[in-house]
Amino acid sequence: MAARSAHDDDLDAHDARQHEADEADDDILVPAVSVPDPAEAEFDALLPEEIRRHSRIHFTPTAVARRAAELLAPLGTEWVLDVGSGPGKLCTLAARARPGALFVGIEQRRALARLATTIADRLDVANALFLHGDVTDVDWARFDAFYLYNPFAEHIPQRVSCIDDKVELDPEHYDACVAHVEEQLARARVGTRVVTYHGFGGSIPFGYDLALDEEAGTDRLELWIKVYDERAAG
Ligand SMILES: C[S@@+](CC[C@H](N)C(=O)[O-])C[C@H]1O[C@@H](n2cnc3c(N)ncnc32)[C@H](O)[C@@H]1O
Repeated sequence: MAARSAHDDDLDAHDARQHEADEADDDILVPAVSVPDPAEAEFDALLPEEIRRHSRIHFTPTAVARRAAELLAPLGTEWVLDVGSGPGKLCTLAARARPGALFVGIEQRRALARLATTIADRLDVANALFLHGDVTDVDWARFDAFYLYNPFAEHIPQRVSCIDDKVELDPEHYDACVAHVEEQLARARVGTRVVTYHGFGGSIPFGYDLALDEEAGTDRLELWIKVYDERAAG
């Protein structure tokens, strides 16, 4: 049998330390549930109960909102339109993350647009503004970026639960809204950014590149950037 060298002793000592470390790792308890995001709880706590219960399905989760803010406003000075802003979760949280940018929400439910303004005030967020109206009423040309969290799904019966019965939901209006988004994006200038979460029911027009597509929340965030303007070219 070959004589043991000092090197063999070092290796044994290393193995012993590794074994202890492996056992210690086994003792680490991984929490079975994810830890709630404090900003999520802070925002949701400001919602009345009848709205809060829709938060998980209808409003952008906090972590997704922060990531969307980076994608929508990389310079930190952009004007962003949230198409169907609900109680303003995306706009308020993104505005907080990007204080030099402006986040505007357009929302068909008057009560939600008002609630959004109240919450943004309560959280001292001055660069998030909310309008009551239909997406077809807004001048899209003023904005550098658009956020779409499947805004019109409620207009299709049984597609998702309804937030309330305060607005008329109509499948024909769904088609009109989707067509309006496609038309406005087709008219937008080169450099326009579009972020979708759960899509919007239509197709991003020709001239946009899919710059990023990553897992987020319960779906994916897609970032589209307009790189070519057919109208300007021809
Ligand atoms: C899925 S929620 C998204 C809310 C918000 N963007 C967010 O990410 O937290 C869609 C919202 O769009 C609004 N909406 C649907 N159709 C609309 C329209 N044609 N004009 C304005 N708002 C609309 C709904 O009332 C609802 O509040």
